Amino acid sequence: IARAAIFDLDGVLVDTAVHHFAAWRAMAQGLGFTLADEDEELLKGVGRMDALRIVLGLGGVEVSDEEALRLAAEKNAQYVKAISMLTPDDMLPGALELLRDLRSRGVPTALGSASRNAPLILDRLGIRDLLDVIIDGSVVSQAKPDPAVFRAGAEALGVAAEDCVVFEDAIAGVEAAHRAGMTAVGVGDATVLGEADVVIPGLHAAGSLADHGITFEGSP
Ligand code: G6P
Ligand code: MG
Repeated sequence: IARAAIFDLDGVLVDTAVHHFAAWRAMAQGLGFTLADEDEELLKGVGRMDALRIVLGLGGVEVSDEEALRLAAEKNAQYVKAISMLTPDDMLPGALELLRDLRSRGVPTALGSASRNAPLILDRLGIRDLLDVIIDGSVVSQAKPDPAVFRAGAEALGVAAEDCVVFEDAIAGVEAAHRAGMTAVGVGDATVLGEADVVIPGLHAAGSLADHGITFEGSP
């Protein structure tokens, strides 16, 4: 029986992964190469500068540190433009319902995201108050698969790692959860997230977790 839930943001609570990838694609295009559909998985959950290095590596492009910072800023500007238009309707199916259900049952929740844009997104969605603790890329600089983001979330909630369940759509995030000593629920494609303890297609299917022995105990 778990005592706390920690949520990744992009691709778990909200459909922003598509905007991240579109912005990386545009950047690559500008540099003269094309990203393939399957490259998207490599970038999920990975911090901004690490993701940039991966993209440049895929294109075989070498740039100075200064140019790398400029490219990352350019990519982010396009991404921010896209997420500035998010509305509560852009939450992924079941996300709001699960957050509300956990809150009503007294189960503490945390956000564990590598994104520095998390505050903007949470405001656009209007769900800041449904998360007891917010750990984002401005709080913790080590990117997943480093477990620091999730460890910080558990610590702030005052819940032991083994009592935390992490919801993740990224391979790097599942690895980070395991390295933190937590249960990892993969959200998305089971063939991609095979390392997770359980995989559900989306948070709308969270009810089926009980069949896999994952339940939450709150203190209402
Ligand atoms: C999340 C996304 C990644 C993104 C990272 C940094 O983990 O899954 O694709 O690179 O956040 O996001 P940021 O908004 O700070 O560039
Ligand atoms: Mg994600």
